[in-house]
Parts: sequence; C-alpha cells; structure tokens
Amino acid sequence: MITIKSSDEIQKMREVGKLAAKCLVEMSKLIIEGNTPKQIDDACHKWTLEHNAIPATLNYKGYPANLCVSVNDVVCHGVPNEVPFKKGDIVNLDVTPILNGYHGDTNATFVVGSVNDDIKKFIDVAYLSMWEGIKQVCPGNTVGDIGHAIETYVKSNGYSVVVEYCGHGIGKNFHEDPNIVHVGRPKQGVVLREGMTFTIEPMINMGGPRTKLENDDWTVRTVDGSLSAQFEHTVLVTKTGVEVLTLRENEKSLL
Ligand code: MF3
Ligand code: CO
Ligand code: CO
Repeated sequence: MITIKSSDEIQKMREVGKLAAKCLVEMSKLIIEGNTPKQIDDACHKWTLEHNAIPATLNYKGYPANLCVSVNDVVCHGVPNEVPFKKGDIVNLDVTPILNGYHGDTNATFVVGSVNDDIKKFIDVAYLSMWEGIKQVCPGNTVGDIGHAIETYVKSNGYSVVVEYCGHGIGKNFHEDPNIVHVGRPKQGVVLREGMTFTIEPMINMGGPRTKLENDDWTVRTVDGSLSAQFEHTVLVTKTGVEVLTLRENEKSLL
C-alpha cells in the first residue's frame, strides 16, 4: 500500500530527515585508517539515542547493528565488524533513525585517506546517478522514469547498476510501497503523487551487476569482487517537484 503523507506527517519526515543527515555526517568523521566499523556502530547507537531517536536497523528482521557499513566490494547491508579501515578503502555508511515514529534513511560512500582518479570518478558517478534519479521526481512522472535516468547515466559511464535491491517508500514503516527501481523504462510503473515519500539509493558496481549474499545472511557482495558504491536520499514529492529531506548542511542540491 502506498501512503500519501499529511502535512503533519511531512513535518515529521522533514525532522527525521534532517536528523539522519546529521547522523551520517557525524559517523563519517570516524572513517579513519585503523578505526573499525564496530566503533562506528557503537557511536551510532549512542548518538541516535542521545538525539531522542532509535536506530531502525537494530533487530530489524534480525539485523544485528545500528547502521550498515559496506566496505569496497560490499554492495549493501554490511554488518559492522572489527576489521580496521585501510588507506584506499571505500566505505558506505547507511543510517536510519526513527524520530517521533517516522523513519529517515540516507547513505553515502566515503574514502579512507585518498583513492586514485579511477575510483574517484566511479564514486562521483554513483553520487550523480542518484541525483539523475532525484531530478525525475514530480507528480505524474513514474518510478520507471527514475530508474531509466539512473540506468542510462551509469551505463554511459561504463559501470553497472545492481537490480536486486531497490529504493522504497518510507514513513511510519522503514520499507513501504512503492519499490523504487534503479533501472527501468520511461513512463512505466507506479505514477508519483504529491505527498509520497521514498528513497532513491542506486548501488553501482565498477564491474558486473551480479551480487551474492554472504553466509551471515546480510552482507551483500559483488560476484566479481569489483568495487560497489552507493548514495541514498529520502525525498518528498511536492506539488511541483521534489524536496530532498536528507540533504546535509554543506551539501549542494543539484536540482
Ligand atoms: N538502510 C537500508 C536501506 O536503505 C536498509 C538496511 S536494512 C538492514 O533500505 F536490516 F540491513 F539494516
Ligand atoms: Co533505504
Ligand atoms: Co538506507
């Protein structure tokens, strides 16, 4: 069921979106050579509770941590472990606080120290592909329009889009309808309407698109071992277009 948010609910989504954006910035400061994902997990737990919120991932369908930390060839849902970050790692942090009963979901890919130009370009394309999707959001456009814009942009840069995992409606529930696909055809699928809130979160691989699930039943990796990068924003469909609810304080809107 697709929910249309009331103006009171939209206000709550704005508040939790802002909190999620702040949480992501604070946690990213811990991405330093020698630190571990588990340290960020502990920090995220503490930070979220201190801000009167709850980490939605903790015990979600049995997920054991307060955020996802996905390093290098991990596509998504990386369970925080004790493996120290090394120079040149790429690290995605995905946070989802619940504030006053509403969810805000955002992620970004960071680097440990520095990376070469090929990897820099790859991460840039992942980021810009998310914005290509966001630019399609307005009443009357479809989820297929979003997916098509992302897929076209990524493929034209020589990378691939993961198809097994999607964006999603969000609100009182972590994952609501509709599914927001990151590949697709123009004019196909669910039509967007004012008051819908959902995430756009393309996962981009440097090599092929295929993924495999680890034995822990959470961690998703690329089959070919290539790097994977992801960015995620929670957005609201407005009367005339889109509002990005998880925009960070120093992040420029590319609309
Ligand atoms: N935050 C992820 C998303 O963007 C979902 C993580 S679910 C978990 O949808 F259980 F793996 F944490
Ligand atoms: Co999400
Ligand atoms: Co997320």
